[in-house]
Amino acid sequence: MRETITFYLNGKRQTVGGDAAMQTLSRYLRYDVRATGTKIVCEEGDCGACTVLIGRRQNGALQYLPINSCITFLFQLDCASVVTVEGLARDGKLTPVQDAMVRCHGAQCGYCTPGFIMAMAAVYERPRATGLEPRDFRQALTGNLCRCTGYEPIIKAGLEVEGQPTCEQLYPSAEMLREFSSIGREPLRAGGFFKPVALAEAIEFKASNPRCVIVQGATDFGVWCNKRGFSSDALLSLDGIEGLGELRVEEGKLRVGGRVTLAQIESFVQDKVPELARILDRFGSPQIKNAGTLAGNIANASPIADTLPFLYVTEARLELTGRGGTRTVPIASFYRGYKKLDLAADEIITAIVIPLPSRNDTLRLYKVSKRSHLDISSFTAAMLMRRNGERIESIRIAYGGVGPVILRLPKTESFLTGKTLSLDVLEGAGAIAKEEITPISDVRGSRDFRLQLAANVLRKFYYDVGS
Ligand code: FES
Ligand code: FES
Repeated sequence: MRETITFYLNGKRQTVGGDAAMQTLSRYLRYDVRATGTKIVCEEGDCGACTVLIGRRQNGALQYLPINSCITFLFQLDCASVVTVEGLARDGKLTPVQDAMVRCHGAQCGYCTPGFIMAMAAVYERPRATGLEPRDFRQALTGNLCRCTGYEPIIKAGLEVEGQPTCEQLYPSAEMLREFSSIGREPLRAGGFFKPVALAEAIEFKASNPRCVIVQGATDFGVWCNKRGFSSDALLSLDGIEGLGELRVEEGKLRVGGRVTLAQIESFVQDKVPELARILDRFGSPQIKNAGTLAGNIANASPIADTLPFLYVTEARLELTGRGGTRTVPIASFYRGYKKLDLAADEIITAIVIPLPSRNDTLRLYKVSKRSHLDISSFTAAMLMRRNGERIESIRIAYGGVGPVILRLPKTESFLTGKTLSLDVLEGAGAIAKEEITPISDVRGSRDFRLQLAANVLRKFYYDVGS
C-alpha cells in the first residue's frame, strides 16, 4: 500500500502524504511551492484565475486538460502531471501565448491573466489546433472571467499565437508514464484518503466508513471545503478502478462508467445525441467539465442538476454496486425526496445506462440561467417526443428547479398524447404543466417566474420543432 501521492509539477517530481495531501492545489502552489503565478480569487471554480493544466494517462500518453486548481486537491493528483503558468515560459522567454497576450494588450490585470494564458494554452493541446477561429477561444474561455471586459484583445491574442509548444514538448512524458503505470497498480492511502485499484476494495472502504465521501471531480466538494469549512475523515477516489472509466454504446444504450467526466461525454455524443452535446456546452466551463462526472452530478442530487431532466426523459437506469452485487434502479426512483437517495452505505454508482433516442424521436433540452455559460440553472427542462406527421404519438417531459426533485409531468404528457402539434395545444399543455409543479422562490428566481417558465418553455418547444 502506498502512502504518498506522486505527481509532477512543471516536470519536477513531487511526493506528498498525510494531511498535506488534503490541501487544494492552488494553496500548495502559492504557499508551499511559492509558485504565485497561479491566482486564487473566487476559490469556487467560477472565475478561472487559478487555471492550470493537468496531464493524465489516456491511451498510453498524457492528455493535458485545463482545470481549476482552487477546487482540486492534491490527493486527486496521484499519477498526474501539472503544468502552471510558470512552467510555460522556458529559458527566460515568454511562451508564444504569453507573448501574444502582451502584443495584443490582452493582459490587463494580474489576477485573471495567468488563468487566461493557461486556458488558451489548453487550446493548443488539442490534436487539431489549426485553423482556429474566435469561436474556439470563446468556448475555451467560458470559465475565465475578465472583470475589465477585455475579451476582444484576449481572443485576438489567441488567434495570433504561432508555434505554441505542447506540454509533451515542454515536459516529455516517457519517464512519468513508466512510473505512473508501475505505481498506479498499487492502492494508495494518505491520511483519510483511499484510492483503491479494485471495485471490491472501494466498496469495503465505503461500507466501513459511513461518513465516506466519494470525491471524483470535487467541483462541489471543493466549494463545500473552501466556503463552508467542510471536512471528512474518509475520502474515496475511483480513479484507480479501470472499468469505471468505460464509455460506449451497447444495444442502443449509452453506457457511462462511474468516473466518466462530463467533458468526455460531451465529446463522445457529438454525433450520437447532438442535442445533449449542444446543451452540455452550457453546463459548465471546460475546467469544470474536465473534472465533474455524470455520476457526481446524479449523486449530488440537486433539483437543478443540469443532466437530470435528460436522464429522466430517456428513462436512464443506474447500476449500483455493493457488497451483495449489482442492482439497477430507474433514475426517477433513485430520488426519495430532497437530497435523499436510494443508495445503501456500501453502494457506489458504477454505471449509468441511457437508452439513446431513436431517429424518429425529437429531443429538446433547455436551461434557463442568469448568465449563458457557467451558471447555476434557475430552471431546466427536457422533452422527448415521438410523432407521426403532426400527431404526437408519445411525449415525455421533465422539469428541474420546480420541486424538491426533478419532476416528470404525467398529466401534461397524457394531455399531449394523440394531439396534433400546434401552438394552441402547447399553450393548453402549459396551463396543465403549471398545475403539476411546486416551485419555490429563491435567489435564482421567484415562484411566479418559474411557473411562467413552465408554460413558456412548451411554447418555445413548439417554435423549435413544430413549425
Ligand atoms: Fe476562481 Fe479558482 S479562483 S476559479
Ligand atoms: Fe483582469 Fe480584465 S484581465 S480584469
